[in-house]
Amino acid sequence: MTTSSQSRETFAGRKAFIFAAIGSAVGLGNIWRFPYVTYENGGGAFIFPYLVALLTAGIPLLFLDYAIGHKYRASPPLAFRKINKHFETFGWWQVLINVIIGIYYAVILGWAASYTYFSLNSAWGADPAGFFFKEYLQMAEGVTLDLDFVASITGPLIGVWAFILVILALGVQKGIGKSAAFFMPLLTLMFIVLVISALFLPGAEKGLNALFTPDWSKLLEPSVWVAAYGQIFFSLSICFGIMITYSSYLKKQSDLTGSGLVVGFANSSFELLAGIGVFAALGFMAMAGGKEVSEVATSGLGLAFIAFPAIIDQAPFGSVIGVLFFGSLLFAGITSLMSVLEVIISAVQDKLRFRRSVSTAIVCVPMALVSILLFGTTTGLPVLDVLDKFVNSFGIVAVGLAVIYAVLLNESLSGLGAHINETSSFKLGVTWRILVGTVTSTVLVYMLFTEINKVATEGYGGYPAWFVNTFGWGMAIGLIVVAYLLSRLPWNNLTETKEVKGDNNE
Ligand code: ALA
Repeated sequence: MTTSSQSRETFAGRKAFIFAAIGSAVGLGNIWRFPYVTYENGGGAFIFPYLVALLTAGIPLLFLDYAIGHKYRASPPLAFRKINKHFETFGWWQVLINVIIGIYYAVILGWAASYTYFSLNSAWGADPAGFFFKEYLQMAEGVTLDLDFVASITGPLIGVWAFILVILALGVQKGIGKSAAFFMPLLTLMFIVLVISALFLPGAEKGLNALFTPDWSKLLEPSVWVAAYGQIFFSLSICFGIMITYSSYLKKQSDLTGSGLVVGFANSSFELLAGIGVFAALGFMAMAGGKEVSEVATSGLGLAFIAFPAIIDQAPFGSVIGVLFFGSLLFAGITSLMSVLEVIISAVQDKLRFRRSVSTAIVCVPMALVSILLFGTTTGLPVLDVLDKFVNSFGIVAVGLAVIYAVLLNESLSGLGAHINETSSFKLGVTWRILVGTVTSTVLVYMLFTEINKVATEGYGGYPAWFVNTFGWGMAIGLIVVAYLLSRLPWNNLTETKEVKGDNNE
């Protein structure tokens, strides 16, 4: 049942790692979040804070994650334990953030799978919103905690979990590496065809004008800068353990920064492409309905499951556009979900030293059950919304800060920079250290406090206080408590790795 630390799996090579890392980065955040965040925060002018956020925080933190994962060759809990044995909690905190993201991310992929099929005959009929909330989700009135199962959601959700369980049980290279190498080129091709088709729709230019017309005055609003940094953190999959885990599977001689630059710019290119495709389609929708783009522009669930079905109904070759859009959402999400779950699996494997297949089952089966119990029922949507908001706005930002301070207090940034420089093409120097140590940490503190203040004074989403306190604040604080408890559990067979602080022992 046990496996030794010496047999840590690796990606076959640089290409496999880059595919997996891009697969993780490109997900729902790119397709349904970026276009609207851009539109809402200054349009063309938003590109400026976005690029600043990418260059001053996104790429530098990506390198930090790579350095930690590659130097310590371990999952986040073990990596932080090696940095300082009191810091294991930070690693478990990251793991638990992935538990929350994983249970709701899978649900959205289940919906995307259903809607890929529904696109063939526009199963939503004339009222996509009514269909989504009433017929498909069978949403309960108001906020309740009923556990009435909805078969149409549960079926595809089980399918998503079963598929991902098999892939992850196959291991790092055979499962994640190979499937990312399959899904990413396919996704890119599908998405390019989708964007080109959208550009040919009448009214596309109206959408693109709305998206890209710059509103420079927005740059004076701090919330626009917070939105840019927030978008980068989630979209690049940084600060929550994913890149630490993936880089721990790299071979010793790896060009970390070279790969990081490819991943960072590929992710942003995909976002830009998504912005163009989505707003071209929204421009068409506005024109067809005789409306302004501002009246139809939306993001998230509203964009995917309400606006897009309406576009599919009216567009020439609508079903093709539907299959391409929902298929892209599904494929982009699958490779991101793999990375989210891999953080948890690698932590369980490190702590308990179980075989890969056993660790995968220990992680995926209970998570699938919780996911079905919470979201395969009539009560799922508000829970999903609150979990998503709190885990992103507070969890990822707070743990990102903790990670930076853990490193600053115990392990110098120069040490990690030197580790990266040993094998990488693009060398890190004082600029990187200043960006991580001062700029990024200051931005994270600002983001955290403005958001806490806002939600504490205004509440969130109009939900009742008990609901936000349980699934929002309760969950966010609960994660830290559970992370601490997990860090107190004994390690199985840690003697092999305990002494190797900072060692690359393979
Ligand atoms: N980076 C992933 C996304 O954008 C998690 O959805």
